Amino acid sequence: MSTCLDTLKKENVSIGFVPTMGALHDGHLSLVEKGLSQNDIIVVSVFVNPTQFDNEEDLVKYPRTLEDDVKLLGTVSNSIIVYAPTVQDIYGEDIKSQFFVFDGLEHEMEGAFRDGHFDGVGTIVKRLFEIVKPEKAYFGEKDFQQLQIIRKLVEIYKIPVNIIGCAIHRAEDGLAMSSRNTRLTKKDREAAPFIYKTLLFAKEQFGIKSATKVTEWVEKQFKKQPLLELEYFTIADTKTLKPVKRKSKNKTYRAFIAVYAGDIRLIDNIALN
Ligand code: PAJ
Repeated sequence: MSTCLDTLKKENVSIGFVPTMGALHDGHLSLVEKGLSQNDIIVVSVFVNPTQFDNEEDLVKYPRTLEDDVKLLGTVSNSIIVYAPTVQDIYGEDIKSQFFVFDGLEHEMEGAFRDGHFDGVGTIVKRLFEIVKPEKAYFGEKDFQQLQIIRKLVEIYKIPVNIIGCAIHRAEDGLAMSSRNTRLTKKDREAAPFIYKTLLFAKEQFGIKSATKVTEWVEKQFKKQPLLELEYFTIADTKTLKPVKRKSKNKTYRAFIAVYAGDIRLIDNIALN
């Protein structure tokens, strides 16, 4: 992959990069489209990274649809290179993450609930950046904490890549697109749009109520939902990702949520100002 891309770079071909774990959907494609509008060629990596899973069953059951993914990307453009390494290509015999400190970003929310998750994400993204050496790389706000952590990774290791955040792509009923959505039962899929509806209400309320009050309200709403189990709802500072109790001037906030529908874990977030 490196050799192939080095040849292209010598010919002044600009390379953009979209790292994914495959099972591609319209959310991924929105990143690819944005990349295509800003680069000559887009590399899409498809790699289910074992070190970022804290749950063995989730790793085993993670959808793997490489052939369909390649076909789908082929319908989008012929300026896409798919990079689908094996676990051994990336890790050799030692499937382990590096340990990272991301200025505390790694301890909040997903970091608190998914042990070692961001060490795994940091390890794979740093490795992929070394291989692809893109000018620009595209990450979705769907995983907003991950996006902020990648920005920190690039800053800490002085990696010469421009990180571009992309808006959350949603299904018509508001559910944020995710590879895990295909594993929802019909009933759970029908219940899941409640997550985004609640985020919209929370945004409205945050105009007049404190973060604590909004959080209490959200927790109450989920208690009434038989199919959805709230793991966390947090209103946090956009930069530090630290939870806040009330607003202060000149700061921006986002609401973050993680919910179980059956044994499928869904996350979402929304900008509050
Ligand atoms: P994956 O979940 O496959 O997502 C790949 C990229 O697509 C991420 O940047 C994610 O935020 C973005 N994405 C997913 N759903 C989206 C949606 N509905 N709208 C907009 N963007 C969306 O995130 C990962 O893989 C992995 O952690 C990875 C970065 C590839 C490292 O293994």
